[in-house]
Amino acid sequence: MRIRTVADELSLEDDLVIAGDNAPVLEKLPEGAFDLVYMDPPFNTGQPRRRDTVAVRADSGSARIGFGGRSYSSRLLQTLRYEDRFGDYLDFLAPRLRRIRKLIAAHGTLYFHIDYREAHYCKLLLDEVFGRDAFLNEIIWSYDYGGKPRRRWPAKHDTILVYVRTPGGHFFDAEAVEREPYMAPGLVGPEKARRGKRPTDVWFHTIVPTNGREKTGYPTQKPEGVVRRCVAASSFPGGWCLDPFAGSGTLGAVCRQLGRRFVLIDSSPTAVEVMRERLTPERECGALASSCLQLSS
Ligand SMILES: C[S@@+](CC[C@H](N)C(=O)[O-])C[C@H]1O[C@@H](n2cnc3c(N)ncnc32)[C@H](O)[C@@H]1O
Repeated sequence: MRIRTVADELSLEDDLVIAGDNAPVLEKLPEGAFDLVYMDPPFNTGQPRRRDTVAVRADSGSARIGFGGRSYSSRLLQTLRYEDRFGDYLDFLAPRLRRIRKLIAAHGTLYFHIDYREAHYCKLLLDEVFGRDAFLNEIIWSYDYGGKPRRRWPAKHDTILVYVRTPGGHFFDAEAVEREPYMAPGLVGPEKARRGKRPTDVWFHTIVPTNGREKTGYPTQKPEGVVRRCVAASSFPGGWCLDPFAGSGTLGAVCRQLGRRFVLIDSSPTAVEVMRERLTPERECGALASSCLQLSS
């Protein structure tokens, strides 16, 4: 894997992490080269996205009382943050999407990850850029974590809009996707229940576990399990995948696991450092996560 900037020559000889605004970088990448583009842009929440990593230890001299009535103190180890406020969100996305469409191979697919605030506006934009007939799926990723307001239905899903480069001509390997248990295994025969079912367009999947192996501490990091389904279904082994808003490099980690090649771009120097750490093979998985508590806002 090589770390590059837009000033460097960019060729697909090795996996790449590219530091910088994705707009000029996308211009330098070869057209038609990618089986899959997964993109998870900032959701335009209007707030900076921030995650603090805090080390907690027992401290009999502290007034802070935690689980089991034991007193503890905490120390801030690091703060990872990026801005998430755009004057005109669709004007920001549109030129990038136009270029991304050209980078996708004739058999290729775009997975566009967004939340309820902007999903409907983005759907209209994607229809315009890719064509309505190129729309393949609306995937709902349902999770269950965090606060639940009492005056409305708690929002606990993201939307992944899926578009293909060539309507009817896309690659999709349904058998490559891991099966999941039937909701009511008693309604199917024992053989079917044992094999499980192919996932539908509603994916129930936990967020990145707080102290799991894959946790990097980067704000809004997406779970590998969700991205793995996209990569397994819509890219060839050995094929190239692109993430222009790569954050902690989840797409790269999944590509490594599934034997795909990757190009990851992010404008945040912190994200690039997190990716360097995560995707360097010698990384001791989970070393940070196992000893720290992650707090996000
Ligand atoms: C929602 S996060 C991506 C999280 C990622 N999917 C993961 O699993 O860690 C969005 C990322 O887009 C990056 N970003 C925002 N504007 C950008 C731009 N113009 N060019 C490149 N990256 C950008 C931010 O720095 C942030 O890391």
